Amino acid sequence: MPRNQAPMPSELAAHLSRSSAPYRDPVARIDWDRLSIRQYWLPPEAVSLHGDPQFMTRPEADRMRLSQVEFLNFIEAGLWLEGMFMERIARSMRQERHNLTALKYRLHEMREETGHSLMFLELMARSGLSLPHRRHSQQRLANLFGRYAPLESLGFWMATVIGEEIPDRLNRYIRQHGRGVCPVVVEMSTLHLIDEARHISYAREMMESRLAALHGWQRQLLRPLLRRLVHQFVGVFYYPDARLYELAGFFPGADWVSRAKQNRHRREFMEQCLHPTLEIFRQRGFPLTACK
Ligand SMILES: [Fe+2]
Ligand SMILES: [Fe+2]
Repeated sequence: MPRNQAPMPSELAAHLSRSSAPYRDPVARIDWDRLSIRQYWLPPEAVSLHGDPQFMTRPEADRMRLSQVEFLNFIEAGLWLEGMFMERIARSMRQERHNLTALKYRLHEMREETGHSLMFLELMARSGLSLPHRRHSQQRLANLFGRYAPLESLGFWMATVIGEEIPDRLNRYIRQHGRGVCPVVVEMSTLHLIDEARHISYAREMMESRLAALHGWQRQLLRPLLRRLVHQFVGVFYYPDARLYELAGFFPGADWVSRAKQNRHRREFMEQCLHPTLEIFRQRGFPLTACK
């Protein structure tokens, strides 16, 4: 079947639009007065250096500070990714005029992504910390998929599932292990994952409907690309760069970058946290791993 004639899961789109209709702005819903820098912003086990012997001997205030910087880095990467989704949705409006159900759902998705990005900006402003500028143009493969993969192609929807699932897994982890974590962060993660559940189910439906027609040569081509894509997203969301460690008071940052990369606990955490996502792909013949 030519890719521009791939089936559109209109029923699902209509159902998701109905769930999205009672929209409430997350910035207005969150009780920002509860934001505190005297609490963790990530569960301690979700910090990149957790388990590293040198890190574990540092005072708790330092470890807490790093959790705050890492969460800010996580949402800053979210801004980049959501910007890419919104760009694609906006561009798709030119093509979807004939399918009003799909258009309506995509506009709901764009409104929700806009809300997430505004919520991220609010936290960034209130944190009082200014993150060093991270050049996301370096994430070439993710940018290529996000910007140029044909909107109706299997590659685009696989990349979308990966891009939405990888950060979503940390939101779920924060929600499940949120005791002792700043309530604003838990609330943000919860609001985000409720919307993302709809985005992911739509993207998965689009992916599944195209997987049936996948040829062997396409699978061979996609395998290494998806492997690299996962590693790029994991790098952006879960492995801070040297300047971030230094912003949190860990000098020299480059040493802590290599400690995080060698941190066995971190690798295990990533494999475990992303297990449900990786399984989706493994079961469909794409043997992906969280780390290189
Ligand atoms: Fe989002
Ligand atoms: Fe999303």
